[in-house]
Amino acid sequence: MKVIAVALLLVAGAFANSIKQTRETGPPCPIADPLIDEPSDQLNFTLNPIAQIIVGGSHGLTTINGLSTFQYEYTINLIQLTAEFTITLTTFDLTSTYTAEGYVDARPLSQSCIPSGNFTGTGPVAITAAGLVVSGSATIFVNLITDRISIRLLSIPNLVFDSLTADLGPEFIIGGAPVDWAQFSSNIKSCVDTEFPANRDDVVEKFRLAINELIADFTLQDFLDLIGGGDSTCPPPGLV
Ligand SMILES: *[C@@H]1O[C@H](CO)[C@@H](O)[C@H](O)[C@H]1NC(C)=O
Ligand SMILES: *[C@@H]1O[C@H](CO)[C@@H](O)[C@H](O)[C@H]1NC(C)=O
Repeated sequence: MKVIAVALLLVAGAFANSIKQTRETGPPCPIADPLIDEPSDQLNFTLNPIAQIIVGGSHGLTTINGLSTFQYEYTINLIQLTAEFTITLTTFDLTSTYTAEGYVDARPLSQSCIPSGNFTGTGPVAITAAGLVVSGSATIFVNLITDRISIRLLSIPNLVFDSLTADLGPEFIIGGAPVDWAQFSSNIKSCVDTEFPANRDDVVEKFRLAINELIADFTLQDFLDLIGGGDSTCPPPGLV
């Protein structure tokens, strides 16, 4: 009898799977391009255990080009709560000025690839990226007691980009030393291409913890609204 019950469950599960798959693409509303952000003295964010800018940071007039090339798609299995996703960003170009203090911890990636340590910095900032593609899968955990979701398993078999450049100026000091930004920018692709696959489990685990911190306040309903997708009304262009 037990065998039959298990077989029935499997059939039911397979049937349910076939209807409980939902594929979404986004973002539902195009992001303004260029995106202009007015100066602010509220530059702070927390992405433990990868990076933090502590309260007290500020930025000047910020211009970001390329966010209209940001796209994602995912297929979610609502029975297993497993999602397969692909995120792409074809071009990205940010210029601003900043004052900030915090830390970056990219370990186990090498110090010569991405410097880790506590930092302080002020001055102009320019960041560009091209051809970013990240794909993988995630299994979501719903805590029925706290009604919050988190990512239980994360796998990122594919993380590539064509180029990445950063220049946070000569007054950016991390772990007691400035960064040679030209050297950083010319080296970053080849070192991430080799060091990310070699340290994939450790790096992906840091991503998982960081994402869980970002979504710590997400309830199951927020999540269902999000994966419901599509029916949000977009403001007219220019009103963001
Ligand atoms: C940024 O700082 C404000 C207080 O100034 C705080 O309320 C907010 O939670 C902080 N945001 C992050 C992401 O740490
Ligand atoms: C930042 O400084 C604190 C206190 O000195 C230290 O414990 C921590 O490891 C430093 N962070 C990094 C990423 O080096």
